[in-house]
Amino acid sequence: MNWKTAIVTLSDSGYAGDREDKSGPLIKEILMKDGSYEVAEEILLPDDQMQIEECLIRLADTQKMDLILTTGGTGFARRDCTPEATMAVATRNAPGIAEAMRYYSLKITPKAMLSRGASVIRNQTLIVNLPGSPKAVRENLECVLPALPHGLEILNGITANCAEKPIEK
Ligand code: MTE
Repeated sequence: MNWKTAIVTLSDSGYAGDREDKSGPLIKEILMKDGSYEVAEEILLPDDQMQIEECLIRLADTQKMDLILTTGGTGFARRDCTPEATMAVATRNAPGIAEAMRYYSLKITPKAMLSRGASVIRNQTLIVNLPGSPKAVRENLECVLPALPHGLEILNGITANCAEKPIEK
């Protein structure tokens, strides 16, 4: 399956052209290597909640993305608002993904607890917030990628019943 994916980088300095966005391109590189995803859009926005919400709604409702991965804006900085924008457009919560990322990342750095990243569903679209640094992007994707296709299959009604599948460890 080639899951239709959008990558959204949230960064005031990246948007202003003061800092190169390395995290968005890194997400694309990792997804391309994985082979299960088609990167349909790459977007760079400032840390502005309304703009982020509008973008997520367009990507989910009009562009019909299966998956939206955001990077940045999950921390404690005054302008960080990615989780708020993400939760505002959610139709259902999917907290396990964000919980797993923090659980996994805490084994690498105690600073992992400083990411407020959310993971939610908007209708048929899964939205996952990754932290902003390339290092954090790599580590968090390492954690979630093995489980994402199964979640996307269930969300799309392709896999209906896990209980009928053979037991797997
Ligand atoms: N998670 C992992 N796996 N590795 C990291 O280096 N950095 C943390 C955290 N999560 C980090 C991580 C830090 S330092 C911060 S401040 C928060 O993510 C929020 O990052 P953001 O504001 O760039 O989204």
